[in-house]
Amino acid sequence: MPLPTTPLPSGVAVPVLGQGTWKMGERRDRFAQEVAALRLGIELGMTLIDTAEMYASGGAEEVVREAIAGRRGEVFVVSKVLPSNASRAATIRACEASLKRLGTDRIDLYLLHWRGGVPLSQTVEAFETLKAQGKIADWGVSNFDVDDMEELEALPGGKAVAANQVLYHLGSRGIDFDLIPCQRKRGIPVMAYCPIGEGDLARDGRLCVVAERHGATPAQIALAWTIRGEGVIAIPKAAQEKHVRDNRAAADIRLTAQDIADLDAAFPPPSRKQPLAMV
Ligand SMILES: NC(=O)c1ccc[n+]([C@@H]2O[C@H](COP(=O)([O-])OP(=O)(O)OC[C@H]3O[C@@H](n4cnc5c(N)ncnc54)[C@H](OP(=O)(O)O)[C@@H]3O)[C@@H](O)[C@H]2O)c1
Repeated sequence: MPLPTTPLPSGVAVPVLGQGTWKMGERRDRFAQEVAALRLGIELGMTLIDTAEMYASGGAEEVVREAIAGRRGEVFVVSKVLPSNASRAATIRACEASLKRLGTDRIDLYLLHWRGGVPLSQTVEAFETLKAQGKIADWGVSNFDVDDMEELEALPGGKAVAANQVLYHLGSRGIDFDLIPCQRKRGIPVMAYCPIGEGDLARDGRLCVVAERHGATPAQIALAWTIRGEGVIAIPKAAQEKHVRDNRAAADIRLTAQDIADLDAAFPPPSRKQPLAMV
């Protein structure tokens, strides 16, 4: 079965399951394994790859460069600018450095990693310049709560925001209350980071009953849950081949109403506004 997709506001369809790269590129002796894992994921359809200039100080982008070499056309590359580089001029320089490390002439989606001290209007201006130059196809943000999104969208050019990447998994689901419904209404996808709780949910006994029902692993149930609704893209990181294969298969799991009820009982949904959680 092909992976389901979700549209960005531009109409470009991206798979609802991609691949993360945080902690890749940190060790030379793991480089080949990390490249192989990303390549396998691409072959299995997880063609959206999320990286950042911050990860391993550019090392993760170099892993991505190797993984997408010769197959750039199949892959949707997401990278991020650090808030300390998010001024009008520094954003352009940071993007050019990322392009070089990625070995490509275009980033498909370029995100502000989190809000810092630089006025958002400067970052938006830089993003629009990069778009006009063809160096990025789209731009978005990360770790933005509802009020940040409203502030952004009120700025000149701010309505062009294409995605918001935030922490979202069964154990941290505060955004079910407000951010997800708000973004769904506006047609702006949520990219869920740490969908396996940085690996913790793979070892969480509360997922076992539902996992056994599907002949699946707890990690697979965590992923299937994350992408159960419209407009959510999960980006698990997996350096081990078995994990990559399991993650792809998770997209084929259809959770039942009973599964959802059991998971809600174990991981209660928010009943009021919670401040946006971050790692
Ligand atoms: N925007 C932001 O501020 C932000 C913050 C954090 C993360 N992110 C992005 O989101 C991505 C995902 O988050 P994350 O890497 O922190 O956490 P995660 O994807 O929730 O968990 C990664 C951990 O889970 C393990 N794992 C993966 N698939 C598994 C499976 N099927 N069964 C059992 N274990 C499995 C991995 O092991 P192996 O690697 O050994 O296979 C790794 O230890 C990051 O890589 C990054 O691209 C963005």
